[in-house]
Amino acid sequence: MQNWDFFLIYVHYQTIICIFANILIKTMTNLSVNVNKIATLRNARGGNIPNVLKVALDCESFGADGITVHPRPDERHIRRSDVLDLRPVLKTEFNIEGNPTRDFIDLVLEVKPHQVTLVPDSLVQLTSNVGWDTKKNLKFLTEVLDKFNHAGIRTSVFVDANPEMVEYASKAGTDRVELYTGPYAKDYPINKEKAIAPFIEAAREARKLGLGLNAGHDLSLANLTYFHENIPWIDEVSIGHSLICDALYLGLEQTIHEYKKCIGR
Ligand code: PXP
Repeated sequence: MQNWDFFLIYVHYQTIICIFANILIKTMTNLSVNVNKIATLRNARGGNIPNVLKVALDCESFGADGITVHPRPDERHIRRSDVLDLRPVLKTEFNIEGNPTRDFIDLVLEVKPHQVTLVPDSLVQLTSNVGWDTKKNLKFLTEVLDKFNHAGIRTSVFVDANPEMVEYASKAGTDRVELYTGPYAKDYPINKEKAIAPFIEAAREARKLGLGLNAGHDLSLANLTYFHENIPWIDEVSIGHSLICDALYLGLEQTIHEYKKCIGR
């Protein structure tokens, strides 16, 4: 064989490896850890313990693929200053979620995270408990998404597991949808096949439309494996409450490993 033949064989193998690596990355589900609960704990005492920045960096080093924050106007957990401080130090994907008020939009455009997730929560709401009515809010969402798309920030819209809401989110110009999994978590212990059914349908609609897919709310070690087994093409799960509660018993590092096992990692 000539040197030239060896070179061609080498290039051929490199191409095959690249194709497999790409397939693997595209079918891999990421875990984004929501650190709002850490901020809630800190705010309870007014000091800086636990340190939100340090916990976020530790989550990354324990295997989290991203960090999520949900700043609210009353700053009852994550503060504007946390968002600004986190951006330059995080090494993984940064996702900022929230209601797109003027202040929220300005903050996201200033910080330029990897992803912004639009959530329709009101001021007094304890936690997000419903997805957008994307049909009714099509004009508003289109305008807001346009701003983020122009800034090169990946966009995601929080929706219920309803194909029509996914369809209108796509019409509004989002890159991804995040399925609100609260109802799945509630119904899972009663009838898991029934609980997952609308989510498979909505996830298929998202895939058909070429949208990326995220999911979040009340996902836990008890219900995450089944969710992932049924929708293995999901790009990201965003988890806060249960993960931080589990960390009280298992420790943060072990907990993150356990959650990653649930998503096949
Ligand atoms: N996704 C969204 C849009 C949320 O608002 C929240 C809660 O802040 C989560 C995911 C995470 O939910 P949980 O804390 O129940 O894991």
